[in-house]
Amino acid sequence: MTSSSDEQISIQARSGSHQFVAPARVNLIGEHTDYTGGLVMPMAIPFTTVAQLRSATDGRYSFSSGLFSAGRSMATDDRSPRVGDWSDYPIGVLREFQQRGLQIPPFALHLTGNVPLGAGLSSSASVEVVTAIALLSHAQATLPIEVIAKLCQSAENNYVGSPCGIMDQFAVTAAKRDHALLLNTRDLTFELLPMNNNSLSNCRIVVANSGVRHSIAGGDYGLRRREVEVGQTKLLQRFPELRDLGDGTLEQLSACADELSPESMRRCRHIISENQRVRNARQAMLDGDPARLGSIMTAAHASERDDFECSIDEIDFLVDAAVSLRGCYGARLTGGGFGGCTVNLVNAADVDEFTSAMKSAYRSKFSLELETYVCEAVDGALARNAAQHTNSIRETN
Ligand code: GLA
Repeated sequence: MTSSSDEQISIQARSGSHQFVAPARVNLIGEHTDYTGGLVMPMAIPFTTVAQLRSATDGRYSFSSGLFSAGRSMATDDRSPRVGDWSDYPIGVLREFQQRGLQIPPFALHLTGNVPLGAGLSSSASVEVVTAIALLSHAQATLPIEVIAKLCQSAENNYVGSPCGIMDQFAVTAAKRDHALLLNTRDLTFELLPMNNNSLSNCRIVVANSGVRHSIAGGDYGLRRREVEVGQTKLLQRFPELRDLGDGTLEQLSACADELSPESMRRCRHIISENQRVRNARQAMLDGDPARLGSIMTAAHASERDDFECSIDEIDFLVDAAVSLRGCYGARLTGGGFGGCTVNLVNAADVDEFTSAMKSAYRSKFSLELETYVCEAVDGALARNAAQHTNSIRETN
């Protein structure tokens, strides 16, 4: 594991207007483990949020968006609460900086981008991280990766009011091109796993967007999180030698069955089994074995569907359809769930046939258009703002 604290965000502050970018992310495996100190394995994908920041001469902070009409402008000592629109995300980040005593001169920030919203691809984290990097540059300040990621998570938890974990903000900040990022959310150490080992180089990551919007603030995510936390508390009381839920075994969890609701039991069973699947997926990636990696992903979906109960009919249909097609090694729901996207591991030579079969199956079943994105793993915001990379996403029709 690499210690993330070695790396510092260090961007030269310049006068005038400057542009910053942050990617989106897809999670390959390790779902809902990031608020229990567990393991996750996301990679950054080349959708981007772009921030244009310039010094303001009116002594105020201004926020505008290319995607939403209403902007906001405020005095630098304004501490008013969230308003419930897109501006809460960048303003939440500003608040976190202010609470830490960082002096930020007046600015005008304009955000735009192409990250699908409510699709489980971290549009929120992308906005938060690009804002953080733009503000740091403006204030001529530097911070380590994990502080930036935590600060952005706090903005979402405290100001926006979404109880998310740390995965998205960390991945969007620290991801590396051609790699998945295996993050231990207990101590924020991470390992970069090459996406092109042996036979994996003949595979593509295909993201399929069900078009069913989800929101972390919507309530289901928070309910699942509480069910998990109740289980974690009981398990750690019964077995004080454990540091967190992911350290426990299914046998230890069973020993707590008399004290837990059936729902909490199932949610915790997902977390414990998911951590083991992430470890197995890591080994499959290091061995460059797509068949093994794919079958672990599909098993992860079954656990999300049956134990965590965060899937929906449309997503289950997409996973079942995917794994029946030639060249698909595995498929699963990615992100928070209750809508959003699937992530599929597909043999490169079969990608076109795969995406067109998926689109036509989805249309026939739900009369809905499926968007698919064939994604390469790109750099996170840290590396992207040091050196821009070509956008390598390809949308299939
Ligand atoms: C959302 C949250 C993350 C994580 C995933 C589920 O993306 O923002 O913190 O909990 O759901 O793995």
